[in-house]
Amino acid sequence: MHSVMLRANALVTFSVAILALMCAMASLSDYLNSPSPTAQVQVLNVYRFQKKRNGDDEVSLTFNISANLQSVFTWNTKQVFVFLAAEYGTPKNALNQVYRS
Ligand SMILES: *[C@@H]1O[C@H](CO)[C@@H](O)[C@H](O)[C@H]1NC(C)=O
Repeated sequence: MHSVMLRANALVTFSVAILALMCAMASLSDYLNSPSPTAQVQVLNVYRFQKKRNGDDEVSLTFNISANLQSVFTWNTKQVFVFLAAEYGTPKNALNQVYRS
């Protein structure tokens, strides 16, 4: 009646059921999490604003960046990319963007 194969079958079935339950709970916990990172950027000083001969603009400035990324880090976070984008308009181009990560 309670052969080795039956016991092994019950053990494997129970293990797979627990694994499926844990997977469902992990997916649900990630689905319910809604991260709300906040950031403030303040330009402290503009040292230089220069138009280069090749048409590029060069700016040297300092920022004060305060960011709270705590809510982004969960058990499921592998990597977080943070970058700063400066957007400005000129008569020639309506939208110019500069990125720095
Ligand atoms: C930068 O900002 C933080 C708060 O956002 C402030 O406490 C700190 O004094 C500022 N630092 C400078 C150098 O302005």
